Amino acid sequence: MSQAQVKQDPTNQVIIFDTTLRDGEQSPGCSMNLDEKLRIAHLLDEMGVDVIEAGFPIASQGDWEAVNEIAKVLKHATVCGLSRATKKDIEASASALEPAEKKRIHTFISTSPLHMKYKLQMTPEAVLESVAEGVTFARGFTDDVEWSAEDGSRTEADFLCQCVETAIKCGATTINIPDTVGYAVPEEYAAQIKMLMDRVPNIDKARLSVHCHNDLGLAVANSLAGVQAGARQIECTINGIGERAGNTALEEIVMAMRTRSDVAPFHNNIQTEMLTRASKTLSTTVGFNVQPNKAIVGANAFAHESGIHQDGMLKNAQTYEIMTPESVGLTKSELVLGKHSGRHALKDKLKELGYEIGDNAFQDLFKRFKDLADKKKEIFDDDIIALIDDEVGRGHERIQFKSLQIVAGTNGPQTADMCAFVDGEEKCVKVEGNGPVDAIFKAIRAIEPHPDAHLQLYQVSAITGGTDAQAEVTVRLEEDGKTVTGQGADADTLVSSARAYIHALNKLMTKRLKSKPE
Ligand code: KIV
Ligand code: ZN
Repeated sequence: MSQAQVKQDPTNQVIIFDTTLRDGEQSPGCSMNLDEKLRIAHLLDEMGVDVIEAGFPIASQGDWEAVNEIAKVLKHATVCGLSRATKKDIEASASALEPAEKKRIHTFISTSPLHMKYKLQMTPEAVLESVAEGVTFARGFTDDVEWSAEDGSRTEADFLCQCVETAIKCGATTINIPDTVGYAVPEEYAAQIKMLMDRVPNIDKARLSVHCHNDLGLAVANSLAGVQAGARQIECTINGIGERAGNTALEEIVMAMRTRSDVAPFHNNIQTEMLTRASKTLSTTVGFNVQPNKAIVGANAFAHESGIHQDGMLKNAQTYEIMTPESVGLTKSELVLGKHSGRHALKDKLKELGYEIGDNAFQDLFKRFKDLADKKKEIFDDDIIALIDDEVGRGHERIQFKSLQIVAGTNGPQTADMCAFVDGEEKCVKVEGNGPVDAIFKAIRAIEPHPDAHLQLYQVSAITGGTDAQAEVTVRLEEDGKTVTGQGADADTLVSSARAYIHALNKLMTKRLKSKPE
């Protein structure tokens, strides 16, 4: 069936529910600050995501605020907040979602024998009562209520049917069956969805949803099987981030539906041409590099290395390419600008790449662009994106990088001579270290002491090819169990390292302020 035919039938519509900012964000190393969450939420909204699960408002003041801010600004998507089955949780979601044009409260409770006995220490009767109470209470705030059976895939059929029927009777309009521990296999998961479609008498009053974890690498396959069995909502995350091995990857499930509409005749609202941008933005934001051979968005996903494949590709691209690079937004990294390009050219390029930035940020960006153009002859789209990620939104940060001189090489001691502004006051230090990176990080510690923070990750990658490529550095710091990730980009790897560390430290200081008791 062609995509056009598939689109004509509304029963083929699959809702894309993105939980990058909730299930994704709660996994280790993926935490984001408010600005970062807003940037991702705007991107998801623009890309056509139907429902954005923006956080778990009861979890912390920061989570509540993020859901609330996202609820204020989104133009198209429904904004969703997660809650357990308690009144306090549901009230927190309801208050955070108050400004949203379209809002959904998502409430859940475990239903498997294992979870009820050991985690909840509740009888099935008490759980069933909680389902009814939670959904009824949530319906007092909005007509759009989702109920999830946590560990649903390991729940006994009769009890699951009872819970689902009760949730729908009390007003749930979406019923989600998570494979919380990534244990299911496709045939089994599809059979469970079909069983609910066949046995729950009021199932026609709700939409069934799939939510799969990737512990066995089956999240996308399970989600697709669930949809083929009757589910019409898929919960997923960009790059598949999420608890443990992650969730269903949005880009993979969406492209599976687009590419194989002959066997999976379903449509959704995602503009697939934005998938590459969404993946890159998220990976630079959380500092999680995508593996090179990852489906759809990995660096090698459209690379043809072997002679036989290249020969076939030249004769007819379809010999080895089942989808076009353009369909996922991958364009050849075009040579865009050089040292003679002016403000106008940079503005046009930003527009083409889909960025809107304020005047002050643009002036700073233009200066960085000119500095880069002095060092690097050819500037590509990816260079510009890295500069934006490094520059925009940092003007108000407490510590601002100023300058760095390094002594490195075999004849040590390796030394960092560094200046930065702390709350507007210039501080300069000269520090020795075991190598230049160690010296830089010690210099930053001397400028702004933070003895309780530990370096968890230091990662360098080249943004484009060539020895003059910009280096993109990611630094992750941990303090009191809280982690933050910073990024820096520059043609000089050591300057990028300093920028990335300072970015992480600024985030840590903001986090400390937010977690201080009133
Ligand atoms: O995996 C899971 O069970 C969840 C629920 C809270 C929906 O994320
Ligand atoms: Zn989950």
